[in-house]
Amino acid sequence: MEKRNGLRVILFPLPLQGCINPMLQLANILHSRGFSITVIHTRFNAPRSSSHPLFTFLQIPDGLSETQINDDPTSNVMSLLAQINRNAESPFRDCLQNLLLQSQESERISCLIDDCGWLFTQSVAESLNLPRIVLCTFKATFLNAYPILPLLRTQGYLPDSDSKAGDSVLEFPPLQKRDLSRVFGENGEKLDPFVHAIVDTTMRSSGIIFMSCEELEKDSLALANEIFKVPIFAIGPFHSYFSASSSSLFTQDETCIPWLDKQEDKSVIYVSLGSVVNITESEFLEIACGLSNSKQPFLWVVRPGLVLGAQWIEPLSEGLVRSLEEKGKIVKWAPQQEVLAHRAIGGFLTHNGWNSTLESICEGVPMICLPGGWDQMLNSRFVSDVWRVGIHLEGRIERKEIEKAVRILMVESEGERIRERMKVLKEEVGRSVKHGGSSFRSIETLANHILSL
Ligand code: UDX
Repeated sequence: MEKRNGLRVILFPLPLQGCINPMLQLANILHSRGFSITVIHTRFNAPRSSSHPLFTFLQIPDGLSETQINDDPTSNVMSLLAQINRNAESPFRDCLQNLLLQSQESERISCLIDDCGWLFTQSVAESLNLPRIVLCTFKATFLNAYPILPLLRTQGYLPDSDSKAGDSVLEFPPLQKRDLSRVFGENGEKLDPFVHAIVDTTMRSSGIIFMSCEELEKDSLALANEIFKVPIFAIGPFHSYFSASSSSLFTQDETCIPWLDKQEDKSVIYVSLGSVVNITESEFLEIACGLSNSKQPFLWVVRPGLVLGAQWIEPLSEGLVRSLEEKGKIVKWAPQQEVLAHRAIGGFLTHNGWNSTLESICEGVPMICLPGGWDQMLNSRFVSDVWRVGIHLEGRIERKEIEKAVRILMVESEGERIRERMKVLKEEVGRSVKHGGSSFRSIETLANHILSL
């Protein structure tokens, strides 16, 4: 493999777990191709630098107060991103300028790679004459819809009757009309300027890196190239090359693994709604009762703050906790990739964040889809309607529906057919990250592109 010694790449992740994981995995990929890595990061959700001794970490202020951080700013991701985008521009510019001034002839800074959710970085990079490549941490199909999202929101696409709720959104398949209100959320109109800015800055960039592959969305990747008119690099599920565990912001409960060791093959349903989604107390109780009534063993991640208004699992009665503990285990945060790879896991009740969806596909674990909003609405439609490797709950967070879905997936013959299709998908995606596969070849193309900048 050709080495690119003497070239440094600057990375700048958005400070969310679902964005930090892929960025640090990308850092590993590029480092393995000979690039030196500097990671600029905010104080909020700062990655653990000690877990990545090969990279240089530089912290910049983000303007958030202690109170804001302690009040869990991720409970409103849009407002968090807007604030950090306002506060971090000037410190980021200073930091990047200093790095460029200090860079030696023997180790040139070749480009900036940052998340498409940063709105100011393209202008800063242009003013400093530094090429910028965008990392998109969600599906290319979703980024392709950005130019039309404001139109879909304003032009009456929301279903006007229940009978139309299941109609496809023609401009945005396989999304259904009923999904649209959850894509935009309550303050949909606030998204428009954000989305416009992302489209504009991405078009001015020197390329887009997707954690995706041709096997999952060949046409969308070609379309992304047409829409954004920049080179596209689909280098596959990043964690296939390096584990993400070391970039976890929370302490992982390692007792999950010995507990799983005691369970039978493919018997356990893993339940996790990622790092950002929130649910109400009554939804939490419905999930708890559904799991308990299903009689299947389960491993359930209840992230502190997941349940609105609660610290952790205190809305559950002692009796219910006891009955849950007969069959299952509840933890605050799990080593998810290790869990999904465990022989005891047979299904994943997920919010369909793109990382979780990819991690599940890579381990061949079929899913029960409970998307919270935004890109998760699209990912879940692909899982249930296109790849047909999961069951969609259609937003029904009801004990009977959850019990039924768990039973279908884990014990009934329909579940077996879903599992078979998942096995095929896993193999296809697995081939793409092996030597000679489409994603593997894209890494080489990306490395050469960075070299040419
Ligand atoms: C968010 C969006 O929801 C997602 O759609 C977008 O693509 C990235 O930002 P998040 O909601 O956190 O991310 O979900 P997801 O993309 O699935 O990322 C969660 C990450 O946390 C995964 O890599 C998962 O392995 C990890 N995780 C989750 C753990 O390590 N332990 C856990 O207990 C739960």
